[in-house]
Amino acid sequence: MDRLVIEGPTRLSGSVRISGAKNAVLPLMAASLLARGESIIENVPDLRDVRFFMEVLQILGARCRLEDDVLRVDTRDRQGWEAPYDLVRKMRASIYVLGPLLAAQGEARVSLPGGCAWGPRPVNLHVEGLRHLGAEIRLEEGYIHARVPGGLIGGSFRFEPTSVGATANVLMAAVRARGVSELANCACEPEITVLAEALQEAGARIAGIGTSHLRVEGVAELAPLHHRVIPDRIEAGTFLAAAAVTGGEVQLEACEPAHLDAVLAVLRSMGCEIEAGPGTVGLAAPEVLDPVEVVTRPFPGFPTDMQAQVMAAATLAQGTSFLTETIYLDRFTHVAELRRLGADVRVDGARATVFGVSRLQGAPVMATDLRASAALILAGMAAEGLTTVNRVYHIDRGYERIERKLAALGARIRRVPG
Ligand code: EPZ
Repeated sequence: MDRLVIEGPTRLSGSVRISGAKNAVLPLMAASLLARGESIIENVPDLRDVRFFMEVLQILGARCRLEDDVLRVDTRDRQGWEAPYDLVRKMRASIYVLGPLLAAQGEARVSLPGGCAWGPRPVNLHVEGLRHLGAEIRLEEGYIHARVPGGLIGGSFRFEPTSVGATANVLMAAVRARGVSELANCACEPEITVLAEALQEAGARIAGIGTSHLRVEGVAELAPLHHRVIPDRIEAGTFLAAAAVTGGEVQLEACEPAHLDAVLAVLRSMGCEIEAGPGTVGLAAPEVLDPVEVVTRPFPGFPTDMQAQVMAAATLAQGTSFLTETIYLDRFTHVAELRRLGADVRVDGARATVFGVSRLQGAPVMATDLRASAALILAGMAAEGLTTVNRVYHIDRGYERIERKLAALGARIRRVPG
């Protein structure tokens, strides 16, 4: 298994281009199953998760081709309806094929996703939402068996709690159901807005896009998708946090500042100077960061996917910071590893208290999930000495060539094939 070897401390400086949003690409890939033909998705990053999903679609008979940043999914010969365990276990988002398969061919068999490093990831909202559109669903032998012999029928459903994945899945089914669906308390993440806009361009009838209430009038068929995905707001936030924790100055290119309001507010509160313009964000870090109080929330609140990265920055702040995680139970697997680098963090249930220290010491650490890995890389760049981040396949799931982008900003970081 590859590992990253980082020598710190370094101050990052320069500009970096933000790639397309992983969490916008994955639902669009699933939505391509709703039409027969070749869907084209642009600004697609070459990530392990994208490659995994290409494998899932290919198992279902679609043909996928990723060239430069353009992904083509041809579903003309699609015929399968099973997403097998050995693929789904690698990536939870594979469950996104459930709604489109039900809509396109009335049947689906999708493995239940495994747990995650930070605890259970239920799928009850996906199942209940689809049941409200007429699907018969049973969970057996670790699989979701779903069928809808007479075709999906429009229905009403309220997501409780709000869920990005369940909103995507049920929306993709509703656009092809007979009749009208009223979906309440939907996720408003930009990635859901992209999905709804792409579906609408392909002929879907959706009202309320960008809000938590979607009204969908089903249509008999959709044209293949052709959409350019938004920049990855979490990659953007990660590079801003990297500049903050290393006392650097970084300019993001090809990003979307409007998707970063909550993240920019938190970094400003830590003393960073931030300039946002069309497609760009510049950040200049202070000599020493101020402590911060953060509570993760659904969009437009502070994103849970940035919690670990801001915690890494807070470890070196002058004072005590508080980070409360409200989306997931104990999404704090990065804490034990940050402690190995000398961070002083205490966790009580959903709340982490970070007592700022004056320096971190490099050490070998273990990546446990995508965003925890990012946090360890950030801390490693600010720590004195050598940090080795093991199990780097986690980071490759969601960051395109991260070590090259960081090295171009002055980080002393190299990948050692494992
Ligand atoms: C998406 O995951 C993202 N993944 C996650 O990003 C992100 O952390 C999460 O949304 C929250 O923003 C993708 O988009 C591929 P949820 P998802 O359903 O859809 C509970 C990353 O780092 N819930 O919005 O799986 C769930 O337990 C990844 O890129 C149910 O109770 O998240 C959680 O507490 C990590 N029942 C809350 O909802 C369900 O059926 C929000 O989860 C589904 C979810």
